[in-house]
Amino acid sequence: MLKVGIITASDKGARGEREDVSGKTIEAMLSGLGEVRHYVVVPDDQAVLRQAMLHMADELDLEVVFTTGGTGLGPRDVTPEATLSVIQRAVPGIAEAMRARSMEVTSRAMLSRAVAGVRNRTLIVNLPGSPKAVQECLEVVLPVLEHGINILRGRDGECARH
Ligand code: MTE
Repeated sequence: MLKVGIITASDKGARGEREDVSGKTIEAMLSGLGEVRHYVVVPDDQAVLRQAMLHMADELDLEVVFTTGGTGLGPRDVTPEATLSVIQRAVPGIAEAMRARSMEVTSRAMLSRAVAGVRNRTLIVNLPGSPKAVQECLEVVLPVLEHGINILRGRDGECARH
């Protein structure tokens, strides 16, 4: 089971004014594949988001961190900036694949600025904020997640052809 962290970026969620359905959607979809070791709801604040990512990667050594929310064009949407400030290597294909698949569902998918990348031995993946978007994007990522983490952690040297 993959060790997973979830960060929900939501001003309303952090104030307790909105139930975090998206974070729970991530957890439910991970069933059998990943175990959620840490889960936080934080405001759309770049420094707070950055700190949460650093904690999960550097101190908890989680294998995957999913964020949800704060990827759009709103003035408070800063999740991609926080992510870019902690990753050392971008994995653009993950965000490209999510947006490509999502564009088949809604052209608004192009409004998500989600990024993905690696900090040390942790993969960080931004997901949009709505539960529906989370589901549509995770469906794209989950099938390759274990293989990606095995390569990242040096457990798999070879990429058998699929
Ligand atoms: N991606 C998918 N698969 N499905 C969606 O419904 N909504 C889009 C986009 N990505 C959507 C999606 C919309 S409407 C917005 S504004 C952006 O994600 C950014 O969302 P966020 O700011 O909540 O992260």
